[in-house]
Amino acid sequence: MSRNRGRIIEITENLFSQGVKRPPEAMFFSYKGILYPASMSSPETMEALKSFEARNDDVIITGYPKTGTNWLEQMVKELESTDAKYTEEEMKERINAEKKLETFPRLEFGDPGIYERLKKLPSRRIILTHLPPHLLPPSVLQSKAKILVLVRNPKDTAVSYYHFYNDMPVMPSFASWDEYFAAFMNGKVAWGSYFDHLVEWNKYIDHEKVMIISYEELKEDQVLGMKRIAAFFGFSLCEEDFLRIAKMTTFQAMKEKSKETHGQFGDILFRKGVVGNWRDHFSKAQNEEMDRKFEECLGGTKLAARMKYDVYCKA
Ligand code: A3P
Repeated sequence: MSRNRGRIIEITENLFSQGVKRPPEAMFFSYKGILYPASMSSPETMEALKSFEARNDDVIITGYPKTGTNWLEQMVKELESTDAKYTEEEMKERINAEKKLETFPRLEFGDPGIYERLKKLPSRRIILTHLPPHLLPPSVLQSKAKILVLVRNPKDTAVSYYHFYNDMPVMPSFASWDEYFAAFMNGKVAWGSYFDHLVEWNKYIDHEKVMIISYEELKEDQVLGMKRIAAFFGFSLCEEDFLRIAKMTTFQAMKEKSKETHGQFGDILFRKGVVGNWRDHFSKAQNEEMDRKFEECLGGTKLAARMKYDVYCKA
């Protein structure tokens, strides 16, 4: 399923053992006012990121943490390789090239040398990131590379991130949900404010090289969502391909395979995979505070309409 499974397990297991050794205050570094996990990146890497050279045929996937980026990555990899019809030899070459990256595949992860190593990946590269537009390397927006932006309703994203913080050995735990909720609302979490990300992406909603897709629409009709993605990137697949990929990337299927694909990280990553888990966490006051904040930041925007906030987030 994951074409780079052995390597991902090795990298995450190494990360976990490092995390346990770090005191909580050393688990993050701040770059331009935003926190990032020190076990996965560094200020030097964030500086070197500017040198990343996007190719016109790169497939860029971005989403705020916990919006379902690993799921979307798997789907897009399957769509891309089905369209490309790589031979076994080509596939082996691609896997070997990915192994040489020596980092978990996110654009802002790894050592500063990662941008040189990324040049050696064969096209089409599938590049993942959690960064918003103003932090992306300039060549991404200047090139013809298309960008797929994943969004998820803020309440479920917040809950998913809360559990991630508490379950990941490389992230500090919060003493309570209430304490975490305040940090999330104020953008005092890794990758900064959820709301700032969406406000920025909303400005690109009609940009020809940007497509926005939501976690919720993929949950509702994954085949339809994948058809939109394939049309955007110009991938050609038949109905059976879509059905096969949808079947192999259901939450259950990915969770069942996760020991093989992600090692112990799998138990943390594949948590619930549902829409509406926020109802078990939010107090009435927190619910109202989130509704107000969403309205204040995104009320009346095209993005809010796309995300169907009223359907997925209203009590
Ligand atoms: P929950 O914590 O709500 O379960 P990311 O990949 O960006 O870190 O996002 C993780 C979220 O995506 C988790 O949400 C995880 O369960 C969910 N997820 C992962 N694989 C999924 C799948 N195949 N279908 C639906 N949701 C999935």
